[in-house]
Amino acid sequence: MKACRREAAPYTPVWLMRQAGRYMPEYREVREKFGFLALCTRPEVAAEVTVTAVRRLGVDAAIIFADILLPLIPMKLGLSYEAGGGPRIERRVASAEDVSALREIEPAESLSFVADAIRIVRRELPDRPLIGFAGAPFTLASYMIEGGSSRDYRLTKTFMYREPMAWDRLMGMLAKITGKYLQMQAAAGADLIQLFDSWVGALSPADYRRFVMPYSRAALAPLAGRIPTIHFGTGTAGLLEAMREAGGDVIGVDWRVNLREAWSRLGNGVAIQGNLDPMVLLAETAEIRRQVKIVLEQADGRPGHIFNLGHGILPQTPVDHAIALVDMVHELTSR
Ligand code: CP3
Repeated sequence: MKACRREAAPYTPVWLMRQAGRYMPEYREVREKFGFLALCTRPEVAAEVTVTAVRRLGVDAAIIFADILLPLIPMKLGLSYEAGGGPRIERRVASAEDVSALREIEPAESLSFVADAIRIVRRELPDRPLIGFAGAPFTLASYMIEGGSSRDYRLTKTFMYREPMAWDRLMGMLAKITGKYLQMQAAAGADLIQLFDSWVGALSPADYRRFVMPYSRAALAPLAGRIPTIHFGTGTAGLLEAMREAGGDVIGVDWRVNLREAWSRLGNGVAIQGNLDPMVLLAETAEIRRQVKIVLEQADGRPGHIFNLGHGILPQTPVDHAIALVDMVHELTSR
């Protein structure tokens, strides 16, 4: 929490995106009993998975176990996750008419299971900040329009360029839902939140400003001054200043940018999260240590650094390496 406020901390805090996931045997064991969506929608199980990862890794924050696509369930778009594959959206948004037909949901009602899970974790981990999260409007829209994951976002960008009015309506609706969803999580006890705009790096800076920035800003605005917010994206070297303008007390960056350069572009008024390449955790520990030192040197002990991977931890990661990483960050930054 100090790092979010850019205050000096006794050591650099660290957590890992997707820290509860398939690389962890405890998670795989729970997944044998429940499907992924069953896991997300059962507060006791989601809370257990959240807490287990924190205890196993010794990280400085918990992140509530959920998924950015959960709002698509009450929107009735036919969300499912294929074994081994990615998410699938049965009724994708293909036209302006499809946008008009979308249901505007009330997260406090239809996603209340996330609030329940947050309350359980809050009780079980009283001494650790708990991160709530949501997908940013662009990244959510990309799944809704593509019908799943995509390599080039061809359908999303085509929709954006050909149907700018419908795009604005869709993004406006998603910003409103996301803002309410994040407020619900804050009210339930989340200490900070992260907005995941994972795929926004697919856009030019001009397109980001025209088609995305107002909506990410609107999604984050209700939290401003309430709890700290982390604004994360990947491939965002061309978008850093614009993302900062959209909002966030902390800007999350991936490994494609030099942390020192990112910070000098963003200025002192913001904290930074990142940015070890998750692939580095597949290396031997000596190489992991060398790479952790590079990230820490770039952060230069400045208050306001939250150590993280540049993107989610890979399923192939040895748990021991993730634990070693957390220990290294604490040991190398202890002041
Ligand atoms: O960080 C955490 O530990 C909290 C849990 C969390 C999950 N998804 C669990 C999950 C978080 C924060 C997310 C966010 C999320 N979900 C993002 C943004 C982060 C990112 O990676 O860019 C995105 C794009 C999604 C959508 C999503 N969910 C995809 C593309 C997939 C399939 C790919 C994959 O990794 O399997 C999922 C499924 C998913 N979400 C899993 C987990 C643990 C794996 C599902 C399983 O157990 O089979």
